[in-house]
Amino acid sequence: LRNGLAATPPMGWNSWNQVGCAGLNEQVVRDAADNLVRTGMRDAGYRYVVVDDCWQALTRGADGALRPNPDRFPHGMAALADYVHARGLLFGIYAVPGTGTCAMYNSGYPAKGIGSLGHERQDAETFASWGVDYLKYDWCYADTYDGLDEKTAFEKMRDELQRTGRPILYAISEYGAQKPWEWARPVANMWRTTNDLSADWSSVSATIEQQADVTTGSPGGWNDPDMLQIGNGSLTESEARAHFSMWSILNAPLFTGTAPTDQDLGTLLNREVIAVDQDFAGAQGKRLAVDGSTDVWGKPLSGGGYAVVLLNRGDSPATVSADVPGHWAVRDLWQHANTGTSDGTLRAQVPARGAVMLRLTPR
Ligand code: DGJ
Repeated sequence: LRNGLAATPPMGWNSWNQVGCAGLNEQVVRDAADNLVRTGMRDAGYRYVVVDDCWQALTRGADGALRPNPDRFPHGMAALADYVHARGLLFGIYAVPGTGTCAMYNSGYPAKGIGSLGHERQDAETFASWGVDYLKYDWCYADTYDGLDEKTAFEKMRDELQRTGRPILYAISEYGAQKPWEWARPVANMWRTTNDLSADWSSVSATIEQQADVTTGSPGGWNDPDMLQIGNGSLTESEARAHFSMWSILNAPLFTGTAPTDQDLGTLLNREVIAVDQDFAGAQGKRLAVDGSTDVWGKPLSGGGYAVVLLNRGDSPATVSADVPGHWAVRDLWQHANTGTSDGTLRAQVPARGAVMLRLTPR
């Protein structure tokens, strides 16, 4: 979408993977904003603070406007946006195109009529008046319950956001069901390509597999294989690094949903890997080769360089080789070390459920 936003893949924090529906409140969001500043994540590029599902009151107000749940957000959303903005961050919120949110059906949050169907203009104006900078618009049961056409529904909110005059990054989700990479470029700044990512290696590995058929994103419109699960569930450090390496070579949006430990920060603050995510030199990463449980992914970098991920999905260490024609200086982005040169072939020992990420510079 050409709205001047998302020139590079957006980065930030979103409440969902950390607290889901039940644990959401304004203190969690303020703490997340403070964490981004304190840990240096903001300065590494994580700038959006996004409140996901379950922020809403159970009904609309008498004027038809959306309202925050008063128990969870007693100071209201404009005050929360101010808190976020005062820390040099941007504020995001969540809505749905149909009549009810996912959590209304899935997570025992008995909200009714708080979807944006028929309220698109009013909701866009409400968000703009609160100081919202990012909208996640989540296709939840809309086809089943409301008979909507996806593209029309997403375009409607795009137009209403634009009409407010406030720059609002527009993130849509229909879980990749109708191949949005083929039609969403004029509609949104990012679109989910797959179902929800869960915090275990089999989900990460399956989601990576699904990205192999997705055509490239580009500035203003990025493929979104869902938010990071680093710091959550059963992911080990090696798995988390492989997850982060792959999202970065895919130019994916990087949204955390965790209160990060030092080990998580060692992954999330790897600026050499983030630099690959933020570098778009004409195409997102694509799979170059598959051999059993190992893959090779590659992506052009600006300045004539090239990024490579040697990925091992399997349960034992593996030697992975890749053919990358040319004469290169090789740097390992997790060891933070120059590891030699290559005249066309790369080879490395890759840990089980792990990745080696290399940056090749022409020489
Ligand atoms: C489904 C989305 O994929 C999740 O990221 C989250 O927004 C939930 N809906 C909220 O109900």
